Amino acid sequence: MNAAPDPPSSHPAPSLADLLRAAGPPMARDLPDFDPAAAPATPGALLREWLEAALTAAVPDPTAVVLSTVAPDGLPDARVLVLRGVTGDGGEWAFATDAGSPKGRHLAEVPGAALTAYWPTQGRQIRVRGPVVAAPADRSRADFLGRSPASRTAMLIGRQSEPLASAAEWTAEEETLRTRHGDAPREVPAGHTLYLLRATDVEFWQGSADRRHRRLRYTRAEQEWERIELWP
Ligand SMILES: Cc1cc2nc3c(=O)[nH]c(=O)nc-3n(C[C@H](O)[C@H](O)[C@H](O)COP(=O)(O)O)c2cc1C
Repeated sequence: MNAAPDPPSSHPAPSLADLLRAAGPPMARDLPDFDPAAAPATPGALLREWLEAALTAAVPDPTAVVLSTVAPDGLPDARVLVLRGVTGDGGEWAFATDAGSPKGRHLAEVPGAALTAYWPTQGRQIRVRGPVVAAPADRSRADFLGRSPASRTAMLIGRQSEPLASAAEWTAEEETLRTRHGDAPREVPAGHTLYLLRATDVEFWQGSADRRHRRLRYTRAEQEWERIELWP
């Protein structure tokens, strides 16, 4: 039997434009100060300061970053993933995915990417770009085995971004996997890859309610990082 249609409302639903306006301007709150002139010599040292502050401020999911790649049609594509590690100087940023996923295939074609984080609690953005290489196989393996059993199971089922016919199809795949590998699989999917983005530029952006945002860009030079403040 069909459900009865909803009665007409006397209040028309707000448009998307109304909803966007209702959200108000971003960063209209007290935010931390940032003095680019006092910033440390490497992006890694500044990332450490900002990450410690983010953890103190309980920023949700501070390791979630947007990875942008270039698709074969020449257009950018972007999605959120987890930052798996950063070297002490901030020169190398690691993330992991399946090499057969769309993003993995993009990276095989155009081995370069950008990572972007936004921490709204503090109005802070971090932007990183540079060439990307696959880490040696033992590091990809260690990355996979360091994950929870649930995460390993989900990744072993694989087929990321392929069409899913139904939830039942998924459950059946899980069952098959459990019969074969148990609840805590240790087989590493062939495509599981730790990727290393070798940063050429790392930018730290501090928002301010009065719109006097501050930006500092580190650019990799021969022996050190060059620092330059940018107009917002
Ligand atoms: C918070 C969060 C963390 C995620 N972490 C990962 C990750 O570490 N690796 C990954 O492949 N996908 C991760 N995803 C899923 C991706 O956003 C994306 O949906 C998936 O990788 C397919 O992307 P693609 O079709 O562009 O390859 C995460 C999503 C969110 C929201």
